[in-house]
Amino acid sequence: MQLHERASTVPLNSYDRQDWQKGYESVTQELDYWVEDIEGEIPPELNGTLFRNGPGLLDVDGHRIHHPFDGDGMISAIAFSNGRAYFRNRFIRTTAYVEEQKAKKILYRGVFGTQKPGGWLANAFDLRLKNIANTNVIYWGDKLLALWEAADPHRLDPYTLETLGKESFNGVLADGEAFAAHPRFDPNSKFDNDEPSLVNFSIKPGLSTTITIFELNPAGEVVRQHAHSVPGFAFIHDFAITPNYCVLFQNPVTFNPIPFVLGMRGAAECIKFQPHQPTKIIIIPRDSKKPVQMLETHSGFVFHHANAFEQGEDIYIDSICYESFPEVKSESDFRQVDFDALKPGQLWRFHLQMSDKTVSRAQIESRCCEFPTIHPRKVGRPYRYLYMAATDGEAGNAPLQAILKIDLESKQRQVWSVAPRGYVSEPIFVARPDAKSEDDGWLLTVVYDSAHHRSDVVILDALDLNKGAIARLHLKHHIPYGLHGSFAPISFAPAETVV
Ligand code: CO
Repeated sequence: MQLHERASTVPLNSYDRQDWQKGYESVTQELDYWVEDIEGEIPPELNGTLFRNGPGLLDVDGHRIHHPFDGDGMISAIAFSNGRAYFRNRFIRTTAYVEEQKAKKILYRGVFGTQKPGGWLANAFDLRLKNIANTNVIYWGDKLLALWEAADPHRLDPYTLETLGKESFNGVLADGEAFAAHPRFDPNSKFDNDEPSLVNFSIKPGLSTTITIFELNPAGEVVRQHAHSVPGFAFIHDFAITPNYCVLFQNPVTFNPIPFVLGMRGAAECIKFQPHQPTKIIIIPRDSKKPVQMLETHSGFVFHHANAFEQGEDIYIDSICYESFPEVKSESDFRQVDFDALKPGQLWRFHLQMSDKTVSRAQIESRCCEFPTIHPRKVGRPYRYLYMAATDGEAGNAPLQAILKIDLESKQRQVWSVAPRGYVSEPIFVARPDAKSEDDGWLLTVVYDSAHHRSDVVILDALDLNKGAIARLHLKHHIPYGLHGSFAPISFAPAETVV
């Protein structure tokens, strides 16, 4: 009887759709203030600045954009200093942002389907890219850079977040040239006397695709750059590195540009998933002297990789996989997305056997997850702990409301959830000074609290998520759901007035 009752009970959602939608309201104010409304205590030894990037505007003067990925980039900075925290947010003054804010209307098409008013005739043959600088923000070579994968970075002042202009790395990047939004930071590059190295890529898609690898030294100079052509169209958002290799997944998609050219769809809406074709795994040696290798695995789609590492000749890579590419529909409203119809993103480990060029894979986590992060010193190395944003429920797709820690050795999990009224973002791991283990540190995440329509910056103890938040910093406003960010070990707070 009890079993029967359970089977017939429709599970309640862990979230309320109207609550979730409010997190996509635009922010128009640019603010700076010391955060005073704090539950718990900021650890005094946590010093540095959390930078977050994401769409700040979901409309241009009331004209809605079609997809959050088309939203103008806004940086939020939370500078921690001696137990206090300073908040600041600024929009990136991209050319298009400045022009559209002045004109009070949409002047550019977005890759994810935002169209200029006036129907397809007004959009046909306008193939300009709007560099919205909204995907990631990094601090490298004393420069704060806002990244968007299809064009060049914007440089910002790390204290004021003022936009300083576009960054070419001493002329290496041409104006508008792509530089991906997912650099990887090798903590000890074997090619640079164990100095840290920023490794990134760019994609120039076409009938064949050119992948360029860039490696930058700690001074921010490009010290290695090599380009490779692979057959077919490629849409590659992220990659992974090991001490010797860059690993990229070329998922099976095709691109038909005609509806884009004719002004009927955004470029990303012209991508079609090919479920019967394999994913190609592209392995590019970082020293560029050895040949590129290609392996094949199951179809599917990956936005984000957690990490990769080498063991003997073989490579392991942990990635969040979807059964297919979640196609963006031109007629749909993202606020009405049917989560129950979407397949979950799940974590898989791929084992690339280089001797016979075969790939095997095993699922690590079936709970829907995204935004994987690890200890920065473990990038490209064998590692034990993984942190992700995840759904509150163990099955199906839903908004991300929990932080999930996985111990890959013991297989133990910890889940910290803010359901039903909270929504999490990418967790960032910061090691404690004098840490004693790989997970000895903090997780920083921005949580949208729909009950108060504001965001909290939450500090968790990465050793034990079950302890709950160490501190919740209540901001005075909300930050729309963000994408990626990073932690710089320098506190960019203004000097405190000595009392
Ligand atoms: Co990403």
